[in-house]
Amino acid sequence: MPEQSRIQLQLRTLRDTINQHNHRYYALDDPDIPDAAYDRLMRELQDLEQQYPQWISADSPTQRVGSAPLDGFSQVTHEVPMLSLDNAFSGQEMDDFDRRLRGRLDRDQPLHYACEPKLDGIAVSLLYRDGVLERGATRGDGAVGEDITSNVRTIPSIPLRLLGDGWPRVLEVRGEIYMPRAGFDAFNEKARQQSEKLFVNPRNAAAGSLRQLDSRVTAQRPLEMCCYGVGLVEAYALPGKHTEILTLLQGWGFRINSEMRVANGMKDCLAYYDYLLAKRASLAYDIDGIVFKVDDIALQQRLGFVSRAPRWAIAHKFPAEEEMTTLLGVDFQVGRTGAITPVARLEPVFVGGVTVSNATLHNSDEILRLGVKINDTVVVRRAGDVIPKVVRVVLDKRPANASKIVFPARCPICESVIERLEGEAVSRCTGGLLCAAQLKEGIKHFASRKAMDIDGLGDKLVEQLVDEGLITSVVDLFSLQVTALVGLERMAEKSAAKLIAALQASKATTLPKFIFALGIREVGEATAVSLAKHFTSLEKIQQASIETLLEVPDVGPIVAQHLHDFFAASHSQQLLAGLLSAGFYWPAIEASKVQPLMGKIYVVSGSLESMGRIEAKERLQQLGAKVAGSVSAKTFCLVAGPGAGSKLTKAQQLGVDVIDETQFLALLKQYE
Ligand code: IVH
Repeated sequence: MPEQSRIQLQLRTLRDTINQHNHRYYALDDPDIPDAAYDRLMRELQDLEQQYPQWISADSPTQRVGSAPLDGFSQVTHEVPMLSLDNAFSGQEMDDFDRRLRGRLDRDQPLHYACEPKLDGIAVSLLYRDGVLERGATRGDGAVGEDITSNVRTIPSIPLRLLGDGWPRVLEVRGEIYMPRAGFDAFNEKARQQSEKLFVNPRNAAAGSLRQLDSRVTAQRPLEMCCYGVGLVEAYALPGKHTEILTLLQGWGFRINSEMRVANGMKDCLAYYDYLLAKRASLAYDIDGIVFKVDDIALQQRLGFVSRAPRWAIAHKFPAEEEMTTLLGVDFQVGRTGAITPVARLEPVFVGGVTVSNATLHNSDEILRLGVKINDTVVVRRAGDVIPKVVRVVLDKRPANASKIVFPARCPICESVIERLEGEAVSRCTGGLLCAAQLKEGIKHFASRKAMDIDGLGDKLVEQLVDEGLITSVVDLFSLQVTALVGLERMAEKSAAKLIAALQASKATTLPKFIFALGIREVGEATAVSLAKHFTSLEKIQQASIETLLEVPDVGPIVAQHLHDFFAASHSQQLLAGLLSAGFYWPAIEASKVQPLMGKIYVVSGSLESMGRIEAKERLQQLGAKVAGSVSAKTFCLVAGPGAGSKLTKAQQLGVDVIDETQFLALLKQYE
């Protein structure tokens, strides 16, 4: 073979191999070679192209870095208009939609619907000629958009050349470009550190990134593209189902949504809506609803279009996660550890599926960062079950009577001085348990389900007991008499007797629960379990030095200091003595059962079905294991879920033990 053809073949083979790996990595989330091996292939291609620049092709995977800035975007006329979707806001509207369609089609049986998350990004059209990306365009007004070819070329999940063969001569693929949440957070964090302007949400970040005239800037942004349909297609007979078309596109190198399903009838559609709404907060990207499309293309064609939207599709919107409202005032709440949290009192607003009238403002730095004043119009966000928060101020709407928020110098409950230690964001009341607010919160925590789980001792009752002066510490709970309780709001003799029995019953507990219930700063359930397993007795924890505390798997210097301070304080000693003499007890922990994985190094990779990676890590740490981020010769075992990728390859190369999720769960169970 002549030298020239040999090099060209080598270039072609390298590009094909890299494109295949790109596809597995960016479109399928299923890489099959380690990152380092991929980097080597890229470098090999770059070297070769540097030697033979005359053969650099526009579709080479090296050509994604962006190019010199444009003067402006030129216009693109969409051969097939880019339509929008009708919206439905309730199950009722969805039923109406389905009934309408079946009426038009004169059909009794249920329709099959393709269900897809409605990604919250920017619609894009990608035109491929003979398998090569020729043009990328925004939707614009649906008829005319902007040419953003050099920007879309920098997005790794957009193939520059289609995979496989046998594609249509002309193929227009449509989909959404978006910024995954993790990329958005990282991008904003970097911008914050460099005092640059932040994006308000991932959608704006995606839009802003695509609007760059300099595609080298776009290339730095973590954008992804997911396709949901086709536009112009020439000289090709596409499959008869929408979902089959998308699967075909996937084979050609595009990312399609892994949550796509086919539902049989409206009942299935509504179940899918509930399923994804529950999953919304844990997805890697923002969605604002579900798109339902009649799956059968022949039926789509019979149904046709009304004005600018297809009859055969609808977007069932989720409740908005952000809404505007007015900040009426700010209350300062005192937490269990004295932390002062400014809480925004809001004009009630329906957001994230509930009516919200309070939202957190976190701390004084956050108030400064937001630049918020009382009477301002603010944007409130409530995503999933997360506590609602004020995310920004709408400065355009600032009224004349907007007034400054003054952070108090003294505790609003006990009037002790509020202090803010250097390096801490939180301001605290210095009143300790003399502060009624801290006392109440401490008792509520002690009685809560995950702590002593005292039935019938709810927040309201705790507040009454403290306000009436019936208790001044947790210990006092255990000498309460029926006669003292009767007479409190909603407290008759029977419920009083029940409460006393529940208090009595709570004394039989476990050491981890008891430690957790004490409410020591930064000591959550997992840390309490680790402490109990490591030390096996309360006395040993009480006597532990900072150094010995640091030997416990998830105890760092801050937690160790808090533990040490707590046990050294005389009021804590009184509290412990009081609780023990009230009769608290727990089964002894056998020394042999402690920390069976002590000294062993584990790595967790890929996704697990039964728990997140963080939980898997904590469970291993509780058994004494060290959990590392990468596989090395020192690794004892790799827990590998689907998508474990390069770590799995490495473990196999090094002969490290690999276990799957089932084996991992069996391991945990063995030591439960
Ligand atoms: S289909 C003819 N599918 O929603 C139907 N659109 O209001 C065209 N969108 O501008 C759209 N995810 O950018 C479709 N899975 C999905 C989508 C989706 C997000 C956006 C799209 C469009 C808007 C329609």
